[in-house]
Amino acid sequence: MGYFGSDKAVVFEQPVFPQQGIARDEVMQLLTRFERQDVDDIHAHNTIQSTTLMSHMAAAQVAKDAHQMFLRRNMLYKTLLPGTTRMALEVKQMIREMLRYPQDTAIRFTSGGSESLYCAIHSARQWGRQVKNIERPEIVVPYSIHAAFSKWCTYADIKINRIPLGPDYRADVAAIERAINDNTVLIAGSAPCWPYGLFDDIAGLGEVAQRHDVWMHVDGCLGGFQSPFAEQLGHPIPVWDFRIPGVRSISADLHKHAYSAKPLSSIAFRDASWEQYLDCPAADWPDGPYTSEAICGTTTAGPIASAWAVMKFLGEEGYLELMRRSLAVRERYIAKLAEVDGVEPFISDMCVMTIRPEKGLDLFAVMGGLFERQSFCLPSLQPPAMKIVLDPVTDEVVDTFVSDLAEVIPLVRRGEITIEAIQPYM
Ligand SMILES: Cc1ncc(COP(=O)(O)O)c(C=O)c1O
Repeated sequence: MGYFGSDKAVVFEQPVFPQQGIARDEVMQLLTRFERQDVDDIHAHNTIQSTTLMSHMAAAQVAKDAHQMFLRRNMLYKTLLPGTTRMALEVKQMIREMLRYPQDTAIRFTSGGSESLYCAIHSARQWGRQVKNIERPEIVVPYSIHAAFSKWCTYADIKINRIPLGPDYRADVAAIERAINDNTVLIAGSAPCWPYGLFDDIAGLGEVAQRHDVWMHVDGCLGGFQSPFAEQLGHPIPVWDFRIPGVRSISADLHKHAYSAKPLSSIAFRDASWEQYLDCPAADWPDGPYTSEAICGTTTAGPIASAWAVMKFLGEEGYLELMRRSLAVRERYIAKLAEVDGVEPFISDMCVMTIRPEKGLDLFAVMGGLFERQSFCLPSLQPPAMKIVLDPVTDEVVDTFVSDLAEVIPLVRRGEITIEAIQPYM
């Protein structure tokens, strides 16, 4: 399964595991066969989930080399890794400085946005249990919050109330407040959300959290490493972070706009003592107390090294430049899409943007036509729309995508491209 696309059934007629090992060169050649079947990175990552620094190949190379260098370090064994441990602490400090967190903010690394969100919900649950005696926890979130919230609530048997959005597609703060009950341990907002690239009213939600004494998490997985730079450049976004008193935790993905290798994200707690709610020190087994950074056990230091390297390589100036470029890409899409008949850009705050086809124009047929031209995007269903990621790509990428779209729409209208075009990619 995948977010978009799924595993194709394969019948293996021969054993795949060889009796005898194969020479290194042949192994690499065989691997290349898989690699070549994929859509190449440049195309796949220009308009889809990217953040792989395609427009800054020098930084991408630094990230890759550092990842390779530390790939075999296991972050469980810190005693053996004084150097790696120091490097990891420096990354946490750079996160504090980049995201303007208070100096005493506690930070944990996770394997990605999803795990960071699981950590937030788990911490709120433990806090609710220990501080407020809540045994049947519930959480209240805007409808647009990431699917990972629902995943973890299923794993952990927590009731999730997704509250319909306001007319502006942002969290309906009053409705969220009304949905809070005695079992509510957590409310959350996105900064910005993945479906629409819109910031929720974090200040409003923070006040609600304080009024009802519930844990407030901000999902900054997508925007966390862009927002401070966007703000510095004067781009209008609301205050979304620990400057809002009700905010207890924030998730921010390094493998998105900090441009590290995947998988790497972070969860930050305003009060360092709240880390205790995340920790699960297990001692009821033969080997004694077992603790870990977050939910995973063994993790590689590769992505952390890669984050360290890119942060040092780019510095504040480099991140500002990439943000400037992302905002220019956003402006260019808005201007160019306004000239295309049959679609309407739905203006976002940043990070992603959706493009809505006119009534009667089949979303998946349009996407199929685009994919055939190697222009990629993601589907969004409510309402039907194509989603593009506003990354620091070149003008040419924007122009090619928009001209492909302009070419495809009349063909879909005339029935010359149908939904079948998307089938190979589903
Ligand atoms: C706002 C937001 N939260 C959480 C996630 C989940 O992140 P991951 O795919 O790294 O688990 C994403 C991913 O795009 C996201 O955009």
